[in-house]
Amino acid sequence: MTVEIRGKLYEGKAKIVYATDRPDLIVQFFKDDATAFNAQKRGTIVGKGVVNNRMSACLFEVLRSRGVPTHYVATLSEREMLCRRLDIIRIEVIVRNVIAGSLAKRTGVEEGVPVAVPVVELYYKSDELGDPMINDDHVRLLRLATPRELRWIRRTALRVNTVVRPYLARRKLLLVDFKLEFGRAGRRLWLGDEISPDTCRLWDAQSGERLDKDRFRRDLGGVEEAYQEVYRRVVGAGGRGR
Ligand code: C5P
Repeated sequence: MTVEIRGKLYEGKAKIVYATDRPDLIVQFFKDDATAFNAQKRGTIVGKGVVNNRMSACLFEVLRSRGVPTHYVATLSEREMLCRRLDIIRIEVIVRNVIAGSLAKRTGVEEGVPVAVPVVELYYKSDELGDPMINDDHVRLLRLATPRELRWIRRTALRVNTVVRPYLARRKLLLVDFKLEFGRAGRRLWLGDEISPDTCRLWDAQSGERLDKDRFRRDLGGVEEAYQEVYRRVVGAGGRGR
């Protein structure tokens, strides 16, 4: 598909979104810029944009083949993804299979303890407020989504987990937790944003080594190497298929 890229619509911390000559399509450009703790920590992870673009494309294709509607349309280049234009719902949905990060802090349970039934959490997507955790009543109060939309979002987030977790496990990656965003287009909902080491916690299935953005957040070193290792396992030769 050939589209013409037009003006910048929005520049986020890790991506730039461009309009195209098609009103229903946008381009996501993946940068190497990295931020953490609501942009208080900033840096660069060389090659990250390529890894995140390719890995997201790969997982969106797998999800589409399993009936999950995603905004992914095509890969235009190493860093550019053509996507359906969504009206983004201002909720960040987190699904957790293993205790880590803010759930360890919130509950006092040690990182690494498996969760028997996946935990779904909702956060209000607001930089000014620092993305506070919210519940279904807050979603209604703020009119972020209808009860029907929220039911679909929760169900679809768990479905994404059911598809992606075993897919990554076959590549020796433990999907600890991840963040999803959804949006509206053409009177229905779609999965948007990206699925990458920026938005997932991925641990080596054998050693438990962290192969995700926590290496940057926690100054663990070997950040670029971790992203490349994930790329190799998920996108690289032999990474395709079931
Ligand atoms: O920090 P926390 O433990 O709540 O993060 C849970 C998961 O959501 C992690 O995989 C993290 O990378 C992701 N996340 C994200 N964007 C945010 C907050 C969390 O991608 N704004």
